[in-house]
Amino acid sequence: MEFRQRVDEVKQEALEACQGAPDSQALEQVRVKYLGKKGSLTGLLRGLGQLDPEERPNAGKLVNEAKAEVESAIKHRQQELAVMEQQRQLEAETIDISLPGRPRPQGTMHPVTIVLNEIKRIFVGMGYSVAEGPEVETDYYNFEALNIPKDHPARDMQDTFFFNDNLLLRSQTSPVQIRTMEVQKPPVRIIAPGKVYRSDSDVTHSPMFHQVEGLLVDDHVTFADLKGTLQYFAEQMFGSHTKTRFRSSYFPFTEPSAEVDVSCIMCSGQGCRICSFTGWLEILGSGMVDPRVLRMVGYDPDEVSGFAFGMGVERIAMLKYGINDIRLLFDNDVRFLRQFEGQGGCC
Ligand code: PHE
Repeated sequence: MEFRQRVDEVKQEALEACQGAPDSQALEQVRVKYLGKKGSLTGLLRGLGQLDPEERPNAGKLVNEAKAEVESAIKHRQQELAVMEQQRQLEAETIDISLPGRPRPQGTMHPVTIVLNEIKRIFVGMGYSVAEGPEVETDYYNFEALNIPKDHPARDMQDTFFFNDNLLLRSQTSPVQIRTMEVQKPPVRIIAPGKVYRSDSDVTHSPMFHQVEGLLVDDHVTFADLKGTLQYFAEQMFGSHTKTRFRSSYFPFTEPSAEVDVSCIMCSGQGCRICSFTGWLEILGSGMVDPRVLRMVGYDPDEVSGFAFGMGVERIAMLKYGINDIRLLFDNDVRFLRQFEGQGGCC
């Protein structure tokens, strides 16, 4: 009788401990305490030997039943705790989907890039390919081969950054004309976009800016080809009503040379502040490639002729978008850049 009570007490205690275990670790301690090798129920089983032999089977049965009950209570509590623990974890990992996302600011296409791409599109459409040259140039390519010898007054047209007597930051993209013709036989039909540098800085000048050079050399290329090409370019760039005007000018590497104006895109030639009431805006320099330049690269000026032109990309962007200070293009003020959102399509 006394034994049965003892078993009951231990069992009851074990069942309560089971129910009260707050987590699986505590439950494991309960299991060890009652069912482990040195556990109290296990101990009772061992103590059977001290009972009278006729009591043993019954007592053994009692302890085994108690053990089974506690085991099943542990299993049950284990399942409960697993569910609770999963619940707690899910709660801790909850994502608040009502939280607004963090906006990722998206850049806009820079007006210089928009205009550069547009220029490329127009000339690539006419069959030109795109050539490139180094920004750190030698005196030979930037000047000498372009018929601008040392001490020639034309060197003063562009205030150049020199590294030493021979090396400089190119002041124009025209050296790409020479580099291209040196390695290519006519026909040549290229544009060369890129950065150029001049020691000059004010509202309309920046020490670094972009030019696009154009060069076409073939049999029987005439000034009429140059005019037609640039008229088509002006219409594509500024609209089909655009007129062009060729003013004779001077460049050491072209003869004859011309500066090209387009009818003012602000007032359509009526006269306004942008065009200084002339009705015209200068957009580029051009001319027929000087025979001396052709000879310098090993071409025969009696066999081939060509035209070349060079334009400032910032200047065209300023005219096209009515930008009155070139520095706005380099300040990277997002309020300025945002105004070009959606223009120019993809990169
Ligand atoms: N390289 C000249 C400049 O920078 C422009 C030009 C290019 C003129 C090609 C004629 C022919 O002023």
